[in-house]
Amino acid sequence: MASRSFFVGGNWKMNGNKESLTELMGSLNTANLQEETEVVCAVPSIYLDFARSSLDPRIGVAAQNCYKVAKGAFTGEISPAMIKDCGAEWVVLGHSERRHVFGEGDELIGQKVAHALESGLGVIACIGETLAEREAGTTEEVVFAQTQVIAENVIDWGKVVLAYEPVWAIGTGETATPEQAQEVHEKLRAWLRANVSDDVADSLRIIYGGSVTAATCRELASQGDVDGFLVGGASLKPEFVDIVNARA
Ligand code: PGA
Repeated sequence: MASRSFFVGGNWKMNGNKESLTELMGSLNTANLQEETEVVCAVPSIYLDFARSSLDPRIGVAAQNCYKVAKGAFTGEISPAMIKDCGAEWVVLGHSERRHVFGEGDELIGQKVAHALESGLGVIACIGETLAEREAGTTEEVVFAQTQVIAENVIDWGKVVLAYEPVWAIGTGETATPEQAQEVHEKLRAWLRANVSDDVADSLRIIYGGSVTAATCRELASQGDVDGFLVGGASLKPEFVDIVNARA
């Protein structure tokens, strides 16, 4: 089995200002971050340039969204080309807030994935079921269908990280149990083996997101198919360093 390096993304969402983010980035730059862990901060688009020039180069920078074409009459949108122009390397796509607050559907998310990868960005592709879907017993069906659309649009799996983020766990303080996360991650890996390839199933990082904290990260990180985290609220706090070092 290919060894997968641990990946921790901090999703700042629509939080912070120049003053607070300067402080946050300063503390990340001097923190003792485990070298083998890939760390990426997903920052508000208006701060991409600022974040890229303030963060140590060993910390990656991601946009939290982008549009599906390079340029044009799309007021308010940003393109992968612009993200790259600011020096950022990644983009988060399909986040549950994009899906549920802004109504983005699978088709659009798939088109964005394709264009971001073609443009040379790495993609943190997010999937996850709602509470109603989990309670209805359709978790697998939902996450497989979301993954299918992403898979149809991937040209280079080496540039993709798959983030399993159950909607009921995001920002609620209700972290999935290590068993719940491992169960879905394992099934996703089996799906990749059956529908993509052994190589992708073995090498793709599948990270967990949803109320990850310093208190919950270690046990989650010890699960065989959990290859890292996408962290929201806790990524703005000093405990983010503990989460990056969850496998240390
Ligand atoms: P949370 O957010 O850690 O605040 O639950 C996770 C995410 O939205 O990526």
